[in-house]
Amino acid sequence: MSDVTRRGVLGGIGAAAAGPAMAGASRHHHTAPHGQTGGAMFTHAAPPMARVRCAIIGAGERGTPMAQLLAELDGVEIVAVCDIDEFVLDRTLKNVTTLTGKTPARYTGDIHAYRHMLDRPDVDVVFVFTPWQWHAPMALDALNRGKHAFVEVPIATRIEDMWALVETSERTGLHCMMLENCCYGREELMVLNMVRQNLFGELLHGEAAYLHELKQQLSRRQRGEGVWRPFWQTRQRGNLYPTHGLGPVAQYMNINRGDRFDYAVSMDSPALGMAKYAREKLPEGDPARGWNFLTGDISSSLIKTVKGRTILVQHDIDSPRPYSRHNYILGTNGAFGGYPPRIALDAGGLSTDHHKWDNAVDGYYAKYEHPLWAKLANQTSRDGSHGGMDFVMLWRLIYCLRNGLPVDQPVYDGAAWSALFELSDRSVRNRSAPQDFPDFTRGGWRHAASYGIRA
Ligand SMILES: NC(=O)c1ccc[n+]([C@@H]2O[C@H](COP(=O)([O-])OP(=O)(O)OC[C@H]3O[C@@H](n4cnc5c(N)ncnc54)[C@H](O)[C@@H]3O)[C@@H](O)[C@H]2O)c1
Repeated sequence: MSDVTRRGVLGGIGAAAAGPAMAGASRHHHTAPHGQTGGAMFTHAAPPMARVRCAIIGAGERGTPMAQLLAELDGVEIVAVCDIDEFVLDRTLKNVTTLTGKTPARYTGDIHAYRHMLDRPDVDVVFVFTPWQWHAPMALDALNRGKHAFVEVPIATRIEDMWALVETSERTGLHCMMLENCCYGREELMVLNMVRQNLFGELLHGEAAYLHELKQQLSRRQRGEGVWRPFWQTRQRGNLYPTHGLGPVAQYMNINRGDRFDYAVSMDSPALGMAKYAREKLPEGDPARGWNFLTGDISSSLIKTVKGRTILVQHDIDSPRPYSRHNYILGTNGAFGGYPPRIALDAGGLSTDHHKWDNAVDGYYAKYEHPLWAKLANQTSRDGSHGGMDFVMLWRLIYCLRNGLPVDQPVYDGAAWSALFELSDRSVRNRSAPQDFPDFTRGGWRHAASYGIRA
């Protein structure tokens, strides 16, 4: 492992990673100031920005394409980029220069060099594309220096840090939004549109997942997507990546807006896949052959909401099988399932037999395409955009900033969706004991407006 990677992987992980000690982590009582209800950031809008002046921390596999997509958006200027790996930093600076004709300022050197970048008065907004243990500290540093923070998934790994982000976003009046791109996929947006038109009736149950075989990341040594990720599997159990599947399902169910996650139980399978891969694929003498992998190959959590609805959330990055986020929603009038997309409706569907899946979803796209997707459809084929969802997400958040609108997913959503990271670890280490979700909105969920169709 190179020095750069070792610093990237280990820098801060000891403090950030949940392990057995986290089971008894301190839990403060977080109350809204002077007995007020929380949730102020649901409606909070910053003054409109004519130009959105951005800084980027982390120019790796995720930061590189995201910087390119951002650079091409109207009204965006990439003022500065920071990475401790000079190779990827210079690659991104070159890409942005080619696209815009302007070279952003360059920050590197040590793991806290980003703080100098955050001191710049000409930066409004900071994007964080670094490994998980850095998300919360970097976002907090950005907020405390007067910048809006847009942070990769999960927003943080520890519940205490999620509370710190909620409280700092509220105190500073600055946005802190998790970049859950899957909420902006074409399929997810269409299903949201259908749910809001009541096609599925009263929602009862959802299923969400991150099934993505990633064992090959163990062979990466210096750089490349997720080179630091397998290390987490030696520290953490349960669900290491809950938000890609859970975010869209939470939005269908209006979580934090009339309902909220109450508690979850979790269990995991034996952890065999990574050790098998290390034995079979890594050369003799490779230290990872001796690592003790703890994360069960597949974990399943069941969330109960305050209104009594249920959500299955699964995580499996070790088993050889096709990718899936499940994207399943069931209501009193029918169901939608993803991977592959399929619909069953007892009334109003294009097919009337709800005992069989209707796999011809093109007809539904024609009828229920989300207006945001329809508006941007001719631009969604850009490279490195995960089928368009990255572009749509960035377009939408820049639109909100330029027009002085609240962001789609204020800090409460990123926190609630990410909380399963710690809660599932605690539950699997305690014979699946139920774990309460914090109410990051401090009662604000009772009054927050429905997550609507925004275009
Ligand atoms: N939403 C998505 O679809 C999606 C896809 C891939 C990755 N991600 C997320 O993006 C994030 C980054 O993942 P990645 O695959 O790009 O990892 P990566 O290792 O390729 O990139 C991370 C970069 O952060 C840099 N870095 C680490 N510590 C730093 C510090 N203190 N200061 C400055 N730079 C630092 C590293 O040098 C590296 O270049 C992760 O949170 C990951 O979960 C999201």
